[in-house]
Amino acid sequence: MCSSGSVTLKVIVLGGTGLLGTHLARIGAARGHDLINPSRAELDLRDYRSIQMIEAMDAAACINAVAYTQVDLAETEQDEAQYLNAQLPTMLGSACRRSGKRLVHYSTDFVFGVGFSSPIAEDATPCPMSVYGRTKLDGECGIAESGCDAAILRTSWLYGWPGASFPRSILNAARAGKALRVVDDQIGCPTYAPEVARQTWDFVEAWPDDGVYHVTGLDPMSWCGFARQVVGAFSAATGTHTPEITPITTSEWPTPAVRPGYSVLDCKKFGELGFAPPPPVQECVAEFVSHYLADL
Ligand SMILES: NC(=O)c1ccc[n+]([C@@H]2O[C@H](COP(=O)([O-])OP(=O)(O)OC[C@H]3O[C@@H](n4cnc5c(N)ncnc54)[C@H](OP(=O)(O)O)[C@@H]3O)[C@@H](O)[C@H]2O)c1
Repeated sequence: MCSSGSVTLKVIVLGGTGLLGTHLARIGAARGHDLINPSRAELDLRDYRSIQMIEAMDAAACINAVAYTQVDLAETEQDEAQYLNAQLPTMLGSACRRSGKRLVHYSTDFVFGVGFSSPIAEDATPCPMSVYGRTKLDGECGIAESGCDAAILRTSWLYGWPGASFPRSILNAARAGKALRVVDDQIGCPTYAPEVARQTWDFVEAWPDDGVYHVTGLDPMSWCGFARQVVGAFSAATGTHTPEITPITTSEWPTPAVRPGYSVLDCKKFGELGFAPPPPVQECVAEFVSHYLADL
């Protein structure tokens, strides 16, 4: 029985072992949907035959959470990033069109670059600054050109449990007594992966319309501000003192990939669909910390 009280859907979830995919699979199953959720060992998407297999699967929709997400490594592993972020979604789009499946695909705030200082709407002109951002934009374009029924959900600064993400790195470093120096001049919206998964299922169950949507947390801040939220929540939960965090500039933390200074996405369009909005960052971070503590 679906929690929405509506239909049980047969849905392919790709990337179900990843940060977002874990929650897509968990929430989809909890809502009673009939999931086809192959691991990479069961269906390696680098193998072109996997697309034919997906096309042949009996399902109403395919949710693609597979991507090449190592933003810095993508600068040198361009072919791998191009394949997973651009060619694969393009082929999935064509396979979904031919087999009449709807496609949900994720993209990123990193399709935008310089020139923004207020929340960015879906129809703003993309201008990626990195290989990751360019390949993700190519994936968006490939899906649009495939002509399938698709929703492209652009999200940003994902974090969650289990596994690696920024808040976990910050808490591990703080607990190890390391000095915390965190970039304070990049502004974006931290986004709790379980919430994007929940919003994805709300969308898939209702499917209001195809299109590009911005789906992020609703509290803009810097990485330093986010780190302060995380250590503050940890201190509150454990009764320990809050470690100092030194704000630094991007130039003090050089990385192979250039990142946007401002990449807050305007989520009004998705908000107007009427689904529950994500909780404030404080609530999401507190929930993250409780899972972090449970894993210790
Ligand atoms: N993370 C962020 O901060 C962020 C921000 C904005 C947008 N996004 C977008 O959100 C989506 C989800 O990101 P994420 O962070 O959840 O990704 P992730 O944790 O890196 O997970 C990627 C998934 O892709 C799978 N995969 C990779 N290569 C594969 C292959 N050849 N065959 C089959 N599966 C393969 C991985 O499987 P294995 O477990 O086997 O490796 C994993 O399940 C992506 O589209 C990403 O671009 C992410």
